[in-house]
Amino acid sequence: MEHLTIENIKTWERFYRANFINCLSGFKTASLIGTVNAAGQPNLAIFSSVVHLGSDPALIGFINRPLAAAPHTINNIESTGVYTINHVLPSFADKAHQSSAKYPAEVNEFEAVGLESQFLDHIKAPFVLESKVKYALSLVEIVPIKYNQTFLVIGSITDVLIDTTLIQQDGFVNLQEASSTLCLGVDAYFTAEGFARYGYAKPNSSLEKIQ
Ligand SMILES: Cc1cc2nc3c(=O)[nH]c(=O)nc-3n(C[C@H](O)[C@H](O)[C@H](O)COP(=O)(O)O)c2cc1C
Repeated sequence: MEHLTIENIKTWERFYRANFINCLSGFKTASLIGTVNAAGQPNLAIFSSVVHLGSDPALIGFINRPLAAAPHTINNIESTGVYTINHVLPSFADKAHQSSAKYPAEVNEFEAVGLESQFLDHIKAPFVLESKVKYALSLVEIVPIKYNQTFLVIGSITDVLIDTTLIQQDGFVNLQEASSTLCLGVDAYFTAEGFARYGYAKPNSSLEKIQ
């Protein structure tokens, strides 16, 4: 095994280094975030930095890159206060990936990449019709991360659209069964294969394996 220091890594070519660093934090869920701007123009973009922040209240965060690089999703969320997060399936991973392209603000990315928008009466933001696990959020807070000009966008879950056969007796959602897609770095996509579920860990007691 080699020992690489950040001084070594900093000497690497820019794109090679970015790929390497992007992979270190590991596999993440590939999600499409659906929004509209103040005039109702839909926007869709892929995000991998979606993270669980707490269950009660049900909070989800994601990291938005600096405004100059990725302005539309965060601006729309700021102006409407609403957005949807939609799991990507292998059947439309190519279209989801295409949504990372820098389309002009006036382009509807649902149409540009060939995905169908789905609106519920009381929710301004569009869902992705093709997605099997999706939820709507109401903006709670945008936390600027001064160190690298990124933002932690925090939302509370208001609505979930899911096939309930995916929800197991104890509330666990079988995302392997749903074929929810993982991504690694900024261009590689995977399906998940689970190998174990364990019971609540306690000191000095043996671990229970959940079937
Ligand atoms: C696999 C993958 C994951 C990505 N994850 C993020 C992310 O977590 N945060 C982010 O700001 N951009 C991420 N991007 C880049 C955005 O999709 C891209 O900047 C997009 O153009 C943003 O669009 P917007 O300006 O409509 O919000 C990712 C791109 C790919 C291909």
